Parts: sequence; structure tokens; C-alpha cells
Amino acid sequence: MLSKRNITVLALLTALGLVALWLLSVPRGLTLADLPQHQPDVANGEILYHAAGCWSCHKPGTDLKDVDPNLPAGGFPLKTPVGTFYPPNLTPDPATGLGTWSDLDFVNAVQRGVSPAGANLIPAFPYTSYAHMRVEDVLDIKAYLATLPAIDSPARSAEIPFPALLRRGVGLWKWIGLDTTPWEPDPVQSASWNRGSYLVNGPGHCAECHTPRNVFMALDTSQALAGGPHPEGEGRVPSLRGLIERGRYKDAKDIASALQFGEMLGYDKLSSGGMGQVQRNIAKLPEADIQAIGEYLASLK
Ligand code: HEC
Ligand code: HEC
Repeated sequence: MLSKRNITVLALLTALGLVALWLLSVPRGLTLADLPQHQPDVANGEILYHAAGCWSCHKPGTDLKDVDPNLPAGGFPLKTPVGTFYPPNLTPDPATGLGTWSDLDFVNAVQRGVSPAGANLIPAFPYTSYAHMRVEDVLDIKAYLATLPAIDSPARSAEIPFPALLRRGVGLWKWIGLDTTPWEPDPVQSASWNRGSYLVNGPGHCAECHTPRNVFMALDTSQALAGGPHPEGEGRVPSLRGLIERGRYKDAKDIASALQFGEMLGYDKLSSGGMGQVQRNIAKLPEADIQAIGEYLASLK
């Protein structure tokens, strides 16, 4: 039997453990000093917005009447294994959108998964990939969003179990699952290969589906882009390695055409499990960017 003293020690240790977990799960964001001096480039922001697929998740909910469906007015349900989210309004409406957000608020949400109120965001929002982006590109996306018409579209709470506890738990998960290393160019590769690598590994968040996860639900980077079970349980996601060796495509140009035109030209495996949406976003990129993605993917053995 436990003595009274042992019980006291156990209780103390448990309490200390809980305090440690609570402290470790504190949302950690960037500070103003981390932001570069930057003159925003709206045209670049529009390209990165498409590369990052922001609209796909932030599209308007069907209950929004007379709203241009191409605007990221938010509210469309996003079903995930954790529950249903209604990704919020990204238009510049001051009351319900990003109108009053500072640059720091925006960068912290997109690259660190921390809300302006200081809560952890759930990684159904792929900030885990956006964390590798150039901060300047993230600020350009914000500048582009500010040019859109403001839509009144109030936020809807996510239908997730124990939201406060879950968000705190995400703080712990971030210790294993959130890698904030900025993307680095590979000096031996061409400029376009590097552009493709950046688009795939940063904004494109291709790894979120194409890289398998370990037991902690963190991306298993030892098998980067090697395919695996779909994170949302929709079958399997194919590997992006050896696309040419496996006879899926003739060359880099062929991969680029597949991404540009999708299944329209007789390519397959580009429409289900969210890939159709990704393909349509990629098709909006400048031709040179699509070719760059093709060149990078063709090099993955
Ligand atoms: C795969 C789906 C997905 C994509 C792609 C996506 N988001 Fe989100 N976003 C979400 C979800 C889900 C939430 C809500 C997360 C939560 O409640 O914890 C969210 C929340 C946000 C928030 C609000 C944070 C807050 O505190 O209210 C901002 C801002 C945001 N996203 C911006 C963007 C931008 C900019 C892009 C493109 C660069 C983008 N999102 C791409 C799913 C997505
Ligand atoms: C939401 C999850 C998701 C994201 C994000 C995603 N993919 Fe996919 N991708 C899939 C699925 C699922 C398939 C298989 C679709 C099918 O069988 O119809 C696929 C198929 C593909 C294929 C065809 C593979 C083959 O064997 O022919 C290519 C190429 C591809 N994706 C590239 C990309 C690139 C590049 C990105 C990032 C810009 C990306 N994907 C992001 C889920 C995703």
C-alpha cells in the first residue's frame, strides 16, 4: 500500500507534470522584430495566394447570398478527422474579416498557427508547410487579400471536441510536429528547380497529403513526398517520387502539362482526395512556375 508520504510525493509530481505540460503548450508566436522591412508586392501576393490554395479552404459557405464564389469569404465546411471547420473570412471586412489584422497577426496565424487572441490553431490549416515560406511572400498575400472587396461573413465556430483543451494540446504537438526552418535553395540546382522546390515545399503544402505521417501525426520527412494513406481517410495518396521511372509521365514538361490541364488531356490520378482543387489552383500560376514544379518533381527519384 502507498504510504501517506508516497501519495503526497505522487500528487506533487503529477501537479508538477501538469504545470510543465501547461507551460510547454503555451502558444508561441513571432515578435515585431522578426518581421522584415518590406514593400508589399500585390502581384506576387496573388500568385502565392493561388500556389498556397487559400481559396480552396476559405471559399464562401453556401448560405452567403450574392457573394462572388471566387472570393475567400469563408464559411464553407471543411471536414477533417478531428471535426468540421468553417475556415474564416479572409476578405478585408473590418468586423468579420482581416480588416483590422496587423502584419504580425497575419504572419503568426499563417506561419506559426497562433491566432491574434493567442490561441493555437489546429493544423487542418497547413501552417506547418507555410512556416517554411519567405515572410515577404506571406506579407504579399496579405497585401493581395486587402485589395479584395470586403464581405460581411461572420466566423462560425469549429465543431470539434473540447476546443480549449484540444488547442492547448496542439501547443504540445507543435514541439514535434511544427518545423519552422525556412526553405533554403540548393546552390547546385537551377533557378527554376529551386523555384519548383520552394512552391512544392512551402506554399504548395504538397507534403501535407503526399508525405506519410509518423505515430505523432507529424510529417515523416525521411519519406518526403513518398505517398501514403490519405490524412483524411480518402484512400491512398500516390508517391511523387520516381514519377518518370514508374512510367507515369514522359518528362518534366509532361508532369507540368498534367498539373496545368488535369484530367482534361487524358491524364489520370489528378482529381480525387482534394487533388482536383490543388490542380485547379496550380493552373492559375504563371507558365514558368508550373514548369518549375514539373522540373522539381521530375528530379525526385
Ligand atoms: C487545407 C485547408 C486550408 C488552407 C489551404 C488554408 N487554410 Fe486558413 N484555415 C484553415 C482552417 C481549418 C482554419 C481554422 C483553424 C482553427 O480553427 O484552428 C484556418 C484559419 C485561418 C486564419 C484565421 C486564424 C484566426 O485566428 O482566426 C487565417 C488568417 C487563415 N486561415 C489564412 C489562410 C491563408 C492566407 C491561406 C493561404 C496562404 C490559408 N489560410 C490556407 C484551413 C486552411
Ligand atoms: C489535399 C491533399 C493533396 C494535396 C495538398 C496535394 N495532393 Fe497531389 N494528389 C493527392 C491525391 C489524393 C492524388 C491522387 C488523386 C487521384 O487518384 O485521382 C494526388 C495526385 C497527384 C499527382 C499524380 C500522381 C500520379 O501518380 O500520376 C501529382 C503529380 C500530384 N498529386 C502533385 C501534387 C503537387 C505538386 C502538390 C502541391 C502543389 C499536391 N499534389 C498537393 C492529394 C493531394
